[in-house]
Amino acid sequence: MDVNGKLFKRYTSRYESYLKQYSRENTEKQHAKGKLTAIERIELLFDQGTFEEIDAFMTAAETNFGKSTKAFGDGVITGFGNISGRLAFVYAQDFTVMGGSLGAAHAAKIIKMQDMALKMGAPIIGLIDSGGARIQEGVASLAGYSGIFRRNVEASGVIPQISVIMGPAAGGAVYSPALTDFIFMTAKTSYMFVTGPDVVKQVLNEDVSFEDLGGASTHSKKSGVADFVFEDEENTILGLKRLLSYFPSNNLENPPFVLTDDTADRIEERLRDIVPDDANKAYDVRDVIKLIVDNGRFMEVAENFAANIVVCFARLAGQSIGIIANQPKVLAGTLDINSSIKAARFIRFCDSFNIPIITLEDVPGFLPGIDQEHAGIIRHGAKLLYAYADSTVPKITVILRKSYGGAYCVMNSKNLGGDFNFAWPSAEIAVMGPDGAVAILYRKELAESKDPAKLKKELAAKYREEIANPYIADEKGYIDEVIDPAYTRVKLIRALKALENKHVLTPQRKHGNIPL
Ligand code: HXC
Repeated sequence: MDVNGKLFKRYTSRYESYLKQYSRENTEKQHAKGKLTAIERIELLFDQGTFEEIDAFMTAAETNFGKSTKAFGDGVITGFGNISGRLAFVYAQDFTVMGGSLGAAHAAKIIKMQDMALKMGAPIIGLIDSGGARIQEGVASLAGYSGIFRRNVEASGVIPQISVIMGPAAGGAVYSPALTDFIFMTAKTSYMFVTGPDVVKQVLNEDVSFEDLGGASTHSKKSGVADFVFEDEENTILGLKRLLSYFPSNNLENPPFVLTDDTADRIEERLRDIVPDDANKAYDVRDVIKLIVDNGRFMEVAENFAANIVVCFARLAGQSIGIIANQPKVLAGTLDINSSIKAARFIRFCDSFNIPIITLEDVPGFLPGIDQEHAGIIRHGAKLLYAYADSTVPKITVILRKSYGGAYCVMNSKNLGGDFNFAWPSAEIAVMGPDGAVAILYRKELAESKDPAKLKKELAAKYREEIANPYIADEKGYIDEVIDPAYTRVKLIRALKALENKHVLTPQRKHGNIPL
């Protein structure tokens, strides 16, 4: 046999033993759990025939603690390809190989992808299905995680980083996803926790299931860790691709423009009646969003967490935008700790990746209460203030109804840095609502009145007429224009066009000190 023949034989035998790892038995084990294999996931993710694998033969080749860790690929598939025609890097952990656990070689492969993605200015996606740090590799696996975390931080705000949890993510393994921009979870088959049910039982003597402790439902509704949940892996990957379509590949590019048949001069008369006449009546702000954006399509982030604020991606005349909207349907649209953090983080993402921010405002104020004060609404509300004030992308606000007190300031008011601030005629802008204002300013008169209820009503109406209306803010320049709601889409598109070349110079500093 000639030299080349020998080399080829060696290659084939390596390749065959590599493929053995993807045996029918292993595939069936994964399928039995309602999961796809790492290869199947990659096939769904990338445009057909574009995926290129890197480091397929990388191996730890060691035996530790009586357990072999020798497996080609070391339990993770890494590479690159095109997603909807654009370059992206991926690492997909393979639970069928040592439980997808992370050893030194496994970590080195992920780190290579992170470094390449950053160099090429392309998104990186982690498909996570792993028992965490590989126990038998000890500190080397912990060091591997540290290297990944450092690169997550280095790449933050430079390239989009997205984590998709498709099985276990246990222990410190949850922290790489937590450092990335968005976390997807698949219902019922994925879970994330720092310490699992066994440890909870040992330390606290509490019984809790995997699902209750760290399943997709828990993280999308209670903890706010998961931004998106889909019912199965196919839909999770479709959701991920849809999300990516709103983003540029890196912070030096603009988001891709998507042609639309929805016209820029569409006048939407239904918007005139959407806010109820009774100021205490709720409505769904998502109905407003639907009527404004291209083809009524938007993608909501963390829709089941802090639902008193809606944050979503959408398009206006083909351009990606991020929308932050108070939701009067939930907690009357008040700002609380969770909604402040949710919106602040969303703003930081949009600002990093050149996505203009549109604020639709209807907020009676911060949520009052001992719980909120003691849990630090001052600290957390400041995050939202900071995020708005610090962002330099085009920022436009439309006040739909209430805009009271500190919440007026926070929600991208003119003096906080709003580029265009519009208000609907139904807007109420003041230091506080009519009832509170009357109770403070007319305390004595109300106490002495024979019919305090009637007097209060009259004074509240007078307050609305004289103080809490948008025309006063308009006269003073805090509102640029009181607009006909039917023209909201037209006004926003024109404002965005005017802001196309917005450029802001910020003072030199290492970084600001965001109230974390
Ligand atoms: C080595 C592991 C492993 C690990 C699983 N395996 N986790 N091998 N290190 N961390 C192996 C198993 O030995 C088994 O090998 C195979 O993967 C499949 O695991 P099973 O337990 O049979 O699967 P399942 O019943 O589905 O349970 C999945 C699991 C469980 C819940 C994830 O494996 C588990 O509890 N693993 C340990 C989780 C954990 O505590 N990790 C460390 C966290 S600390 P065989 O050969 O039998 O097929 C951490 C620190 C990070 O991650 C630090 C960063 C700051």
